[in-house]
Amino acid sequence: MASMTRAEAIADGLAQVRARIAAAERAAGRAPGSVRLLAVSKKMPADDVRAALAAGQRAFGENYAQELRDKRAALAQDRTLPQLPEWHYIGPLQSNKVKYVAGQVALAHTVDSAALLEAIEARGVPQACLVQVNVAGEAQKRGIAPAELPALLDRFAALSHVTCAGLMVIPPFTDDPNDARPHFAALRALRDREAGIARPHVELRELSMGMSGDLEIAVAEGATIVRVGTAIFGARRPVG
Ligand SMILES: Cc1ncc(COP(=O)(O)O)c(C=O)c1O
Repeated sequence: MASMTRAEAIADGLAQVRARIAAAERAAGRAPGSVRLLAVSKKMPADDVRAALAAGQRAFGENYAQELRDKRAALAQDRTLPQLPEWHYIGPLQSNKVKYVAGQVALAHTVDSAALLEAIEARGVPQACLVQVNVAGEAQKRGIAPAELPALLDRFAALSHVTCAGLMVIPPFTDDPNDARPHFAALRALRDREAGIARPHVELRELSMGMSGDLEIAVAEGATIVRVGTAIFGARRPVG
């Protein structure tokens, strides 16, 4: 609607997404509030995060380490905010960018190798992580192969600052949201299997899966965190 302000449009987007999540929880017979909404603020300015905070949104996902650092710093100094954002990191993470992320986010969703895990550990601060799994076996996508998941989960037990709180998946992009269902189901099956193995520092309670187009399917398949950008903020545009 052309007459809406940007802040109103964001509040409206949030309300619609919350209603979709609530309906999906009901349809799946899941408890109200069992799915958390992560607002993906990638490429959106700090003012959009302010508007979402004012509309009651708490958790935000960022994909670029320096963008996270800059937005986080801008908002941390803002005394007018109703509450500080809870940041999550959901983008590809290179070891040399770990310094912008470790200890700065509630959850790092994209741990996909032992080398990256060691780099996070080396920062010497507590960090809860999710392991990103490439359930589709796509060559170009990030994420650890399902066959390598047990060994990576075992690594957490040997380290002292990192903990594993669950699994994350980004299914291959297609036009049909139903195509994501087998990928979500596969992530849940991996979680159920690995959750049966007791490991120190590993508690697989979270399934981070589902975006604007397929969150209902993800909720039906057991998502505990959905990561939603476009349906809240509209099409992404450059920061600044
Ligand atoms: C890892 C990840 N999750 C979720 C999203 C949000 O996607 P959408 O805008 O379709 O909701 C993005 C967007 O870039 C993403 O990179």
